[in-house]
This record gives sequence, structure tokens and C-alpha cells, in this order.
Amino acid sequence: MSQSLHIPVHASRQEIYSKLTPQLVALFNGESNLNANAANFAALVSHSFGFHWVGFYWVIDADLVLGPFQGPIACTRIAKGKGVCGTAWLKNETIVVPDVEAFPGHIACSPLSKSEIVLPVRNRAGEVIGVLDIDSSNANDFSNVDQSALESWVRILEEACHV
Ligand code: SME
Repeated sequence: MSQSLHIPVHASRQEIYSKLTPQLVALFNGESNLNANAANFAALVSHSFGFHWVGFYWVIDADLVLGPFQGPIACTRIAKGKGVCGTAWLKNETIVVPDVEAFPGHIACSPLSKSEIVLPVRNRAGEVIGVLDIDSSNANDFSNVDQSALESWVRILEEACHV
């Protein structure tokens, strides 16, 4: 596996996702451990796009518990249905929040987060086993392009880890 990423400069988000997809696949080649691959996933997204916070929470009993991430320290536990993460878990769907202050119950781990996208990570039965949370310091930073690309990237992670 190559130990460095080739991140296009002066490219659109769509172009960056396209160029990075084969690199994400290569990153998981020969490795199926979920935490290891999730850690590299978070690093790839963080370093490619410069988002404020990128990380995973795993479903453990009744809570989401903090997993691999890149960014400032964050809250460690989120109950089902609470915040954006707990709502994505409860609804088993991606949630895009253009303005975190307008989302009732948003959990503010950092005052610098202005917009957010949270995607469920699922097992083969379709049950949520965790979430990917990405926070941006820019308002309204996540479009359909991000949602679609990140959903396909989470599918790549799930398949690489046989969850
Ligand atoms: N904002 C999230 C909490 C996690 S942090 O942003 C890292 C939420 O409302 O669920």
C-alpha cells in the first residue's frame, strides 16, 4: 500500500472524490480490521478536505462511543436519538445539517463547527453499527456531491471490513 495520498489541487469536490476513491480502496487492501481502516478513512478525509473534525462513533450497548477521529477532542458518548449522530443512528439514514445552530438538540463539541454530515455505518443485516461524523467550520458545506460520495466510501469501508 502506498503510504502517501495524491490529493488534487484546484479541483472540484467531485474531482477530488473521484481521484481519491481508488486510493481509499488501496488503503484497505489486505486489512479488514474496522478500527484500523476507520482510522485511515478519517485521516484521508481530514487531510484531503481540511474539515474541522472527522471521525467515527461505534454503537456499544445503548450508546454511540467515540472511535477513531481526526480533529479536536470530542464528546465520548451519545445516546440513541440525541444530537445529529444519535438521530442518524435512530433513523438509520444520512443527515446533512447546513446550520448546526438550527438543528434542535445538536451536540456542540466545538464552537467552530458550523455544518455537519452524519452517515450510518451498517452491517450486512442493515443494522447501524456506528456513524461517520464530519464537521465543517464553514456553514452549508455539504452538498449532494458529498453525501453521495461519502455514502459510497462508507460502503467501501463496510465491505473491506466484512461487517
Ligand atoms: N455534533 C455531533 C456530536 C459529535 S461532535 O460534533 C464530534 C452531534 O450533534 O451528534
